[in-house]
Amino acid sequence: MANVMEKTLSQAIAQRRATPSFDGSRMPDEDLKKILDAGLQAPSGYNMQPWRFIVVRSEEQKRRLRAASFNQAKVEEASAVIVACGDADGWRSGDLEEMLRMGREGGMPENYAEQAKVNIPNYLSNHPNFAMWLNRHVMIAFTTMLLMAEVLGYDTAPMEGFEQEKVREILKLPLSYHVVALLGIGHLKGNDKFQGGRFNLARTVFAEEFGKPIKF
Ligand SMILES: Cc1cc2nc3c(=O)[nH]c(=O)nc-3n(C[C@H](O)[C@H](O)[C@H](O)COP(=O)(O)O)c2cc1C
Repeated sequence: MANVMEKTLSQAIAQRRATPSFDGSRMPDEDLKKILDAGLQAPSGYNMQPWRFIVVRSEEQKRRLRAASFNQAKVEEASAVIVACGDADGWRSGDLEEMLRMGREGGMPENYAEQAKVNIPNYLSNHPNFAMWLNRHVMIAFTTMLLMAEVLGYDTAPMEGFEQEKVREILKLPLSYHVVALLGIGHLKGNDKFQGGRFNLARTVFAEEFGKPIKF
């Protein structure tokens, strides 16, 4: 049965931990769908949505994915693993047209659409750091999914410990796909790991310009 009591976002953020081990229980499709839908609502530059996700649930495929993820047991133990990817070619193989079609449906002015048709390919084909552009967007959708999973009462494990080429092969990804991160979702088995702690505001946040402390 799906969880009925959702956490607030504040609770989810405060209680979230990177889960070391999952109990392998099955997850209702309804919850998985909610998590995926939440991620797809994420914002993106020009609304280009270059993210793509492969959901891995079968025992066989999870086992293979684990082998491509430095044998991290949580990959196999998770109820589902969402493999977050960026499609480097999406914008030139239909996404731009689809984005404009939806935009027009939602009231995008025609002169905006005409400009976008020129500006977006120009911007993306000359981007100084395209990998970063792709990564930036995929991680927003990824994080939105992670937080929605936590709100629904699941535990999550974000992972960068995987071998790009092996994962690509297992998932039969097109050449233009880049694997950004794995998101394990399920229920914690055993204990959480130690509390790592967080850098404080004085170390990480500045006011107005670099180096000036923020005061409240
Ligand atoms: C993008 C990303 C990749 C990560 N990759 C791994 C991983 O491959 N394996 C792992 O055990 N933990 C991984 N972590 C979890 C971090 O180690 C964890 O978030 C950090 O130690 C802080 O712990 P906490 O989230 O429980 O507070 C990753 C976290 C992020 C955000």
